[in-house]
Amino acid sequence: MLLDVRDIYVEYQRDIEILKGVSISVREGYVSSVIGPNGAGKSTLLKTVMGILKPKRGSIIFDGKKIEGKQPNELVKMGLTYVPQRRSIFPQLTVKENLEMGAWTLRKNESEVRRRMREVLELFPSLSEKINEKAGLLSGGQARMLEIARALMTSPKLLLLDEPSFGLSPLMTNKVYETITDLKKTGITILLVDQNLGKCMELSDYVYVIELGSVRGGGKRDEMPADVKEIIRRWLEAEEGKGVESLSAS
Ligand SMILES: Nc1ncnc2c1ncn2[C@@H]1O[C@H](COP(=O)(O)OP(=O)(O)O)[C@@H](O)[C@H]1O
Ligand SMILES: [Mg+2]
Repeated sequence: MLLDVRDIYVEYQRDIEILKGVSISVREGYVSSVIGPNGAGKSTLLKTVMGILKPKRGSIIFDGKKIEGKQPNELVKMGLTYVPQRRSIFPQLTVKENLEMGAWTLRKNESEVRRRMREVLELFPSLSEKINEKAGLLSGGQARMLEIARALMTSPKLLLLDEPSFGLSPLMTNKVYETITDLKKTGITILLVDQNLGKCMELSDYVYVIELGSVRGGGKRDEMPADVKEIIRRWLEAEEGKGVESLSAS
């Protein structure tokens, strides 16, 4: 396993546990996802893996090493990278400068940064076209692409993606998911969280269901236990229902 989260407990405020003994495993070369309702603790889990929050109990093993309690910049050097749920581009900087910022933590030399930028941009042709534009002028979907591209500048082993389609139109959501699908083909390991269950299920090789800070179950997408499958089926149905509603409302 590339990442093993073992029985972690996480709280923001003393004695209010948000994650209550969460365990998940992420297999190298695959896409794993964590799905669950709003407020279930998905972002909290990713933030804890990334070292932004420290678990009160439990351990996190990445690439064979214990990482709980390590700082995010240390983790970036070890091969972890993270695209947070909230917007994180630098709007006053150009697309190119944003990408350069992505490699900053590694103090890479200039020619190496340029080489990596060319590699990354091959996956994001729409960003290449806007390379010298201010990032603040990008559409929501393009900004999201830039955040993902920037995270890839460090050549990570594991990409943590929190709600990549959040706030995007269905068209842009499809584009972002096409890009993540291309990314998957390059062999990078991804841990994904998204409200868009349909897309998430389509892309993922492994799925975990989380509710109220606990993992209800999970495993290989095509070999899920019946009770977990049933939970997902109901959520998917509700999601489709929502889709129809919003169509008829517009
Ligand atoms: N900074 C914070 N301080 C206190 N509580 C928080 C904070 N961030 C999130 N929470 C609470 O933690 C729970 C899980 O939040 P979160 O991990 O963001 O859920 P999800 O990403 O699954 O929607 C929610 O009840 C939320 O209100
Ligand atoms: Mg969240």
